[in-house]
Order: sequence, then structure tokens, then C-alpha cells
Amino acid sequence: MIDLHGKRAIVTGAASGIGRATAALLAELGAAVVLADRDTDRGEQAAKETGGAFVRCDVSQRADCERVVRTAVDLHGGVDVLFNNAGIIRRSTVCDIRDDDWDLVMAVNVRSIMLLSGLVVPLMAANGGGSIVNTGSGWGIRGGGRAVSYCASKGAVVNMTRAMAIDHGPDNIRVNCVCPGDTGMLAEEARQLGESPDAFYADAADRPLGRIGQPRDIAQTVAFLASDAATFVSGAIIAVDGAGTA
Ligand SMILES: NC(=O)c1ccc[n+]([C@@H]2O[C@H](COP(=O)([O-])OP(=O)(O)OC[C@H]3O[C@@H](n4cnc5c(N)ncnc54)[C@H](O)[C@@H]3O)[C@@H](O)[C@H]2O)c1
Repeated sequence: MIDLHGKRAIVTGAASGIGRATAALLAELGAAVVLADRDTDRGEQAAKETGGAFVRCDVSQRADCERVVRTAVDLHGGVDVLFNNAGIIRRSTVCDIRDDDWDLVMAVNVRSIMLLSGLVVPLMAANGGGSIVNTGSGWGIRGGGRAVSYCASKGAVVNMTRAMAIDHGPDNIRVNCVCPGDTGMLAEEARQLGESPDAFYADAADRPLGRIGQPRDIAQTVAFLASDAATFVSGAIIAVDGAGTA
């Protein structure tokens, strides 16, 4: 049912984790994929593995986002699917977060979606529609400890998904949000908090499906949302977390 032949996709944060797994799956299902990331080495490697094209890009910068979209248009003639997935976390409270860390988290996790979507929506509209998928988080639905900027940013992603779905539905552009449970960011979070990764992983597996998520779990949901199997799904916030937020 999920056939992406003829679809032209952009995936951000495609050098690692969820973005990488999604770029690979979309390509496997037939899409032409542009992979965008700030990490050139891993991004080029991912592009080689998936048969996609890599563009180095800091998603918080307008000029970089313009380069990504220009590349997609030059190579593939347009964009049907945009996966706004690049994201970062800083584990701190309002008392100890640095101003520049707050701004960075908001720029990478939220501003980037405004920038790239703003560039892609007119192309999709002119072409009869498209699918945008934003990566939120379980912590965009409920709160979490010592991650105040991240929770603020993902709450924003969740509600801007709804706003975008309302604004661009009349152009047949569907906008949805996947909210992953824990997958690969845990080691980095344990490092930031000075805690043992093993305890972190054990904690994260304590959910009804009894395991930590894999990037491919999220990729499968994105592939569905990108596809014509999801033609009436828009404005949806989909937890992909083994019932962690349930
Ligand atoms: N993994 C989890 O447990 C989890 C849970 C909930 C939500 N998420 C969200 O899923 C998304 C992907 O997370 P992941 O686990 O795959 O993380 P990851 O760290 O493995 O991958 C993130 C990718 O984004 C890239 N990136 C970071 N800043 C960038 C920038 N300014 N410009 C371009 N690229 C940039 C990194 O280089 C990296 O390749 C993020 O938005 C994250 O917040 C992850």
C-alpha cells in the first residue's frame, strides 16, 4: 500500500538516527530523496547508502534552507514530501540554561520548520499538494524534567503542526507530527546529565511495549504519512512510542 515512486522528498537531520532511517526507507519505497544535515561526513555516508543526494545545511539558517530546496528542485523538479526532523536537546531547567542554549534549541527545533516549510509550501501548492511531517516528541505532549527548552520547542512543534494543517489544507497540503518515544538520543542525554547510560536505557524501556523504540519504528510512520495511503490524515499528532505517553 505504501508506494513512494514518483515522490520527491527532503529529510532533515538525515545523517543520524530517525532522519537517516527515514531517508533510507523513503528511498527503499521509491522516493527520490534529498538528505540535509549539518554533519557532512555522516550525511554523505548516509546519502551514499540510500542513493539520495546530500546537502550540508544548518536548518536554523535561511540561506542554508534555500540551498536545500534549490537542490531538490534542480535535481528532482520539485518537492512532494518534507520531513522536518532535525532537532537537538539541552538538559537544563530555567535556572541553569544559558541564554544562547535556549535560543539554539528554539532555532534548530522550531524556526527551522518555519523556514523550510515556508519555502516548500508554495512549490507543493503549485503542484497540487504535498505532505509535511514534523518531528515532535512525547515531551511535546506532556512535560519532562530538566529539559525546559526542549519541552517548549516540541510543544511549539505540536501546535504549529495544527496551525500549518489549517493554513495549507486548502492547497491539499497535509501536515502531521510524529512524536517519538525514546530511541537514540538517550546516550547524549545521559552524558549531559552526568548519569549512567544503562540506567537511562532501562528507564526508557519501561513502557507498555517493553522496549526502546528504533529509528525504523518512526520511519515507518513517516512513510505512511508521506504516502497516498494517508490522503485524509492531516493535523494529526501521532505518538510512536510503544504507548509511553498513553
Ligand atoms: N531519539 C529520541 O529518543 C527522540 C525522542 C523524541 C523526539 N526525538 C526527535 O527526533 C528527531 C531526531 O532525533 P534523533 O534521535 O534521530 O537524533 P540524532 O541526534 O541521532 O539525529 C539528529 C540529526 O540532526 C542533525 N542536526 C542537529 N542540528 C542540526 C542543524 N542545526 N542543522 C541540520 N542538522 C542538524 C544532527 O547532525 C543529526 O544528524 C529530533 O527532532 C528529536 O528531538 C527523538
